Amino acid sequence: MAVHMPLARLLLVHRLLRTSTSGQRRLRSSDVLRECRRAARTLSTFPVRRSESQGDGRDPSPLGGLGRLLPRDALFPEVSQPRDPEEDASVAASDAHGEDAHVATREEGDRPPEASASAALPGESSLAFGELLVAEHHKKRRVEFRKMFELRAGARLQSNWGAVAHDDVAGRPAGCFLKSTRGVRFLVRRASLEDYVLYMKRGPAITYPKDASEMLMMMDVTEGDRVLESGSGSGAMSLFLSRAVGSKGSVLSVEVREDHHRRAVLNYKRWRQSWILRRGEEWPDNVQFHIHDLSAASALLANQGFHAAALDLIHPQLVLPTVVPHLYPGAVCAVYLANITQVIDLLEGLRCLRLPLLCERIMEVQVRDWVVAAALQKDGSHCVRKAPVLDRREEASDGAFLVKLRKYAQ
Ligand SMILES: C[S@@+](CC[C@H](N)C(=O)[O-])C[C@H]1O[C@@H](n2cnc3c(N)ncnc32)[C@H](O)[C@@H]1O
Ligand SMILES: *[C@@H]1O[C@H](CO)[C@@H](O)[C@H](O)[C@H]1NC(C)=O
Repeated sequence: MAVHMPLARLLLVHRLLRTSTSGQRRLRSSDVLRECRRAARTLSTFPVRRSESQGDGRDPSPLGGLGRLLPRDALFPEVSQPRDPEEDASVAASDAHGEDAHVATREEGDRPPEASASAALPGESSLAFGELLVAEHHKKRRVEFRKMFELRAGARLQSNWGAVAHDDVAGRPAGCFLKSTRGVRFLVRRASLEDYVLYMKRGPAITYPKDASEMLMMMDVTEGDRVLESGSGSGAMSLFLSRAVGSKGSVLSVEVREDHHRRAVLNYKRWRQSWILRRGEEWPDNVQFHIHDLSAASALLANQGFHAAALDLIHPQLVLPTVVPHLYPGAVCAVYLANITQVIDLLEGLRCLRLPLLCERIMEVQVRDWVVAAALQKDGSHCVRKAPVLDRREEASDGAFLVKLRKYAQ
């Protein structure tokens, strides 16, 4: 996707404003704004040559201009100190080795685990065998390698960038760097729920995280709610719902195919097992998985009321007559559909069915990734605009539609 420079510049200025107003060296906001505007102009529109403006002893580079607005102790040395050409050369050399210059100056993670144990999140301990972790190799803010794995005694993480022994990971704090046998730095961290659903074994396609979060918002799912979900599929949506309703709520997840049902249950169990190792307390066991055709599940739903329903199945119009009587008035049913043809079929179905449902919204969730970088290169030439390198995980996630249906009281 093309990068939109004027907006990118605004964003940068906004971030700087926020950072600088919270720093110890407080400046009046009008001064900061004026300086930022000036610096931002320099950043991409007015290349300043070194020899032209060194009279006031200030660093004439865009970074120098912005750097003056920020607390000194928050700056990287290359911003806070005037540049010298030798230093530039050494930074360029380390770039050529494929390491991020900023990160490379930090501690390499060779310290014994005990020394940094206090860095763990409150309530979370150091990395333990059995946990689900993610290892990634970053190069210039890009993820070159990412893998989810379960930490096991004696096992090795293999990659084209070298291997890491699991035994070397155990006992370290989450979010640490480790060196592979080929000297490449890997960040090792705990898998987020988003990582987990993207990397877990799949039966059918999952509801992608960006769509799942929008569906949670549509349904206004709150702790303590009882939610109906179908089909269970691979269990991705079930886990997001499980987290949203918490220990006081519950989810009924209905799946017609036995193999998909089994996959969803396995994925749910595996996440919960890893969670207890991570937190020392159980992930709420609040999802009931059932094998059933939802369109014929009146007996299963009898005497039950739901605060919301999430449907991700083919022909949702066929199950709505069964579902709607069990929704509380005012409740939302969020429907996930793979293409616009299915949306039209659903609307057509709704017209014929005469159910007490209002279609409030039809939408597609789009995510735009940005590359924010200086417009000028060290040699004074302008950078070529680059499209962000998309995470391979996100490639297959495009093109889904969400339909928001609300039950009204009759
Ligand atoms: C795309 S998958 C759902 C993926 C799931 N949302 C997830 O995040 O992993 C659709 C599932 O709906 C199931 N299904 C289709 N019709 C159904 C019905 N009438 N009742 C129950 N499940 C149904 C299919 O077997 C399939 O497993
Ligand atoms: C829309 O999706 C359905 C179900 O996945 C599929 O059967 C149908 O061929 C798709 N239609 C188009 C136009 O892609």
